[in-house]
Amino acid sequence: MELTIIINNKDYTFSVDPSDSLLSILREHLSFTGTKNGCSQGHCGACTVVVNGKAVKSCITKAKKLENAEVLTIEGVSSNFTLDAIQEAFIEATAVQCGFCTPGYIMELYALLQADPDAEKEEIHKALEKHLCRCTGYQPIIDAALLAQEKIKNS
Ligand code: FES
Ligand code: FES
Repeated sequence: MELTIIINNKDYTFSVDPSDSLLSILREHLSFTGTKNGCSQGHCGACTVVVNGKAVKSCITKAKKLENAEVLTIEGVSSNFTLDAIQEAFIEATAVQCGFCTPGYIMELYALLQADPDAEKEEIHKALEKHLCRCTGYQPIIDAALLAQEKIKNS
């Protein structure tokens, strides 16, 4: 099938198999390698991107559902070499070690806090629970999420 998709505000049109995943489109067709492949099965959250305003696991999102979809990846979050508030918060809260899981967490929080900057702590925890991190420990990630929320609300 021919697919037109908007990624980080830029249009792309190319041929794909309808069963190709958004993750393979991003990483293999277009070299957006900031989106990570942890499990390929929808379990770890490392591949999370924002599609039409919602956080989705790109490894289980098929090309056939993406015609004219607007996709935001970690590469589109910062602008003019300025980090997004969530990226800053992850650094300040020391919530990054190897960084493999970090883009997924950031995109999850980006979708949540764009939709509702006043999201309750429980909602934030629930969103973070969709992700696995093998090295940082979860408390710094929770701290980063709350710090990001504070930054966004004060900006
Ligand atoms: S790579 Fe998609 S959820 Fe793990
Ligand atoms: S920082 Fe290494 S997996 Fe999360």
